[in-house]
Amino acid sequence: MSEQVILNIAGVNKRFGGLQALTDVGIKIMQGQIYGLIGPNGAGKTTFFNVITGLYQPDTGTFELAGKPYSPSAPHEVAKAGIARTFQNIRLFGEMTALENVMVGRHVRSHQGVFGAVFRHKAAREEEAGIRKRAQELLDFVGIGAFANRTSKFLSYGDQRRLEIARALATDPQLLALDEPAAGMNATEKLALKELLIKIKAEGKTVLLIEHDVKMMMSLCDRITVLEYGKPIAEGLPAEIQSNKAVIDAYLGGSH
Ligand SMILES: Nc1ncnc2c1ncn2[C@@H]1O[C@H](COP(=O)(O)OP(=O)(O)OP(=O)(O)O)[C@@H](O)[C@H]1O
Ligand SMILES: [Mg+2]
Repeated sequence: MSEQVILNIAGVNKRFGGLQALTDVGIKIMQGQIYGLIGPNGAGKTTFFNVITGLYQPDTGTFELAGKPYSPSAPHEVAKAGIARTFQNIRLFGEMTALENVMVGRHVRSHQGVFGAVFRHKAAREEEAGIRKRAQELLDFVGIGAFANRTSKFLSYGDQRRLEIARALATDPQLLALDEPAAGMNATEKLALKELLIKIKAEGKTVLLIEHDVKMMMSLCDRITVLEYGKPIAEGLPAEIQSNKAVIDAYLGGSH
């Protein structure tokens, strides 16, 4: 297959009162890439995610997913368009089981929607069974299949992060956007997460990844954009980023 642009975003500006949080930020991600977004704390990485997924309204910007313009006006519209995300601070339904959390994610795509699950017509029941099966497959895929019926707040931190990824995958997204999925993980969990991301890429998925672990990013990402004070200061291959003077000064050379 010829190379297809999955996410094409340009000219994003976002101001919070007196703070220019994003200045002319753009990104172009090809099908099947793991694309990294790095930069110091407060650089605007999460803000950029919030803009492209419809949580924050941008002041300016153009947005295209798989060649089609999309409007990041509301999170559910963005989900329908084909972007799924996870959050820097885990956002699961803590009282629901792992399986139920993934099933909720899947309902974005189902015909019956949440009402189908309530009315239980035959078609709805069959769709429900399909959703349940697919949810279990996704839990198996991320490595927590054995915990399907565990209340999610009782899962380990690392497993909750995996569950968030499974839930995001449940929508069959064109783009999976992960905001610091390794945050708070120990070295073993981080390594396992890296393996999972490689597996997700091998399935042909496209991933946009925010992560502070530079070593992990350099070995995992196809390309990287670096933000500093809301501005892109470098874009390129990991090797180019690693040797870029501005990046070393702003980010790599410091305590990070
Ligand atoms: N809703 C908001 N209202 C006002 N300011 C905000 C809001 N969200 C973010 N900011 C500010 O925008 C800037 C960028 O924050 P952001 O969370 O995007 O950074 P980040 O790169 O994700 O940092 P970190 O690595 O710490 O997660 C910060 O100065 C932050 O305080
Ligand atoms: Mg952040």
